Amino acid sequence: MSDGESNVPENGHRVIVFDTTLRDGEQSPGATLTADEKLEVADALVALNVDVIEAGFPAASPGDFEAVRAIASRVRGATVAGLARANAGDIERAAQAVKPAASPRIHTFIATSDIHLKHKLRMTRDDVLERVATSVALAKSFVSDVEFSCEDATRTDHDFLVKVFQVAIDAGATTLNVPDTVGYSTPGEMAHLIEYLRANLDRVDDCIISVHCHDDLGMATANTLSAVRAGARQVEVTMNGIGERAGNTSLEEVVMALATRSRQFGGAATRIERSRLVPTSRLVSTLTGVAVQVNKAIVGANAFAHEAGIHQDGMLKERTTYEIMDPTDVGWEGTRLVLGKHSGRAGFRNALNELGLKLPDDGVDQVYRRFLELADRKKNVTGADIAALVSDERAVEGSELHLVRWNASIGSGGSATASIVIERDGIESAGDAEGNGPVNALFAAIDAAVGVENELTYYHVEAVTPGEDAQGQVHVRIKVDTEMFTGHGLATDIVEASARAYLAALGQYVRHRPDTVLMGSSTSRWS
Ligand code: KIV
Ligand code: ZN
Repeated sequence: MSDGESNVPENGHRVIVFDTTLRDGEQSPGATLTADEKLEVADALVALNVDVIEAGFPAASPGDFEAVRAIASRVRGATVAGLARANAGDIERAAQAVKPAASPRIHTFIATSDIHLKHKLRMTRDDVLERVATSVALAKSFVSDVEFSCEDATRTDHDFLVKVFQVAIDAGATTLNVPDTVGYSTPGEMAHLIEYLRANLDRVDDCIISVHCHDDLGMATANTLSAVRAGARQVEVTMNGIGERAGNTSLEEVVMALATRSRQFGGAATRIERSRLVPTSRLVSTLTGVAVQVNKAIVGANAFAHEAGIHQDGMLKERTTYEIMDPTDVGWEGTRLVLGKHSGRAGFRNALNELGLKLPDDGVDQVYRRFLELADRKKNVTGADIAALVSDERAVEGSELHLVRWNASIGSGGSATASIVIERDGIESAGDAEGNGPVNALFAAIDAAVGVENELTYYHVEAVTPGEDAQGQVHVRIKVDTEMFTGHGLATDIVEASARAYLAALGQYVRHRPDTVLMGSSTSRWS
């Protein structure tokens, strides 16, 4: 259901979707992605049809630089942006990183609120104005598309904000971004601020006004939409709303609010391929290890589930009684694409194509084998199951440690024993342990086999689809010394999914420290 508008309404205007999942989103605690995972997310964002991909912060680390450069070399069909503080070193590094892009953008920023000037930057307002002029001009000497942000804009004195943005326009900025860095603003204030900027800046119509909100008070989406209503034409968002602290504005919420209630926003529309929302959400959640809460709007497992009898009755009579959006429109149709153990390879390939999942031929064979095993245990294999299998298979391929076999048995009083055999480069390592439950015992057995001291800081289980025979997906995060590593695992048995996830996280560590020597015995109880 929508309030009557078409996708791009008459007299409507387009809102640019600037996705910062790979930059601000990756700043979510523990959400670190490998270079290959970043490329995979970038490909998914292109398929989703975002306008701009903020690929990272090139000056932050050599890894970030390489990732932005690789994305800039690969992505066609979206602008690729690199973030830079307003200084020459950062801007030059960002320019090098985005250079291979078909449509490169440098996004430079400096804080402008008095609180940041006094305590963080130790600069005067005049110093900031001078820095903005030189930085934007330098960025402009590398690329024509320059975005400038006033960090903490919503707590900045409005007249000073106008002065700073005017300097940025005069130096060649093409997008002016208004971040609510600490998630402090309200919808009314945000609208007023955008109107104020539009009324007071010279040649503002030559630029795009952008908004970038954080969700500390749970108002990021409302603030973003309010800014659009007041004339902002770019929204900075992340998939699933991941990001620093409470996160950023979530892409799927803004896109669907504009699609469903466009007239409320002056006919605004995005170019987003809405059927890719759910698959992209799953990919980001799986790769980052940041689970999507079940009641999350649009992409949460319960977003279209109707539990109350009265609702179910209404739904059976007429879907729109209780649904304002069609779940198939946002990609939940994947869960209705049903395959079984009699589905042949061709049907399976067709399902992969429909789901937009690309795999090399040998990868298709491997996932097909796993699909058949799953179909033996699960009545209906859905698109969501297949997407999860593909993503898990990619993770298994890239991992240093492989699960060969495991066993866990539970006794009276909850005590459990477990044994495990893992493999690295063709060499097996085994471990046995006891614990206060099967998962606990299995993790201890893995510790005995791997021998890397770590702290388990996050453990989350979710079902890929509803139903008793659903595959379980487990996300874990471990801390080794001061560094965090994430892993995810998939199986119809959550104990096995847990072992796979834990092993994947340790595998990441081993990849990072290839000199690690596995400490388990070379034979197991069963060999
Ligand atoms: O939240 C913020 O202020 C940012 C800027 C760098 C745009 O992420
Ligand atoms: Zn931010």
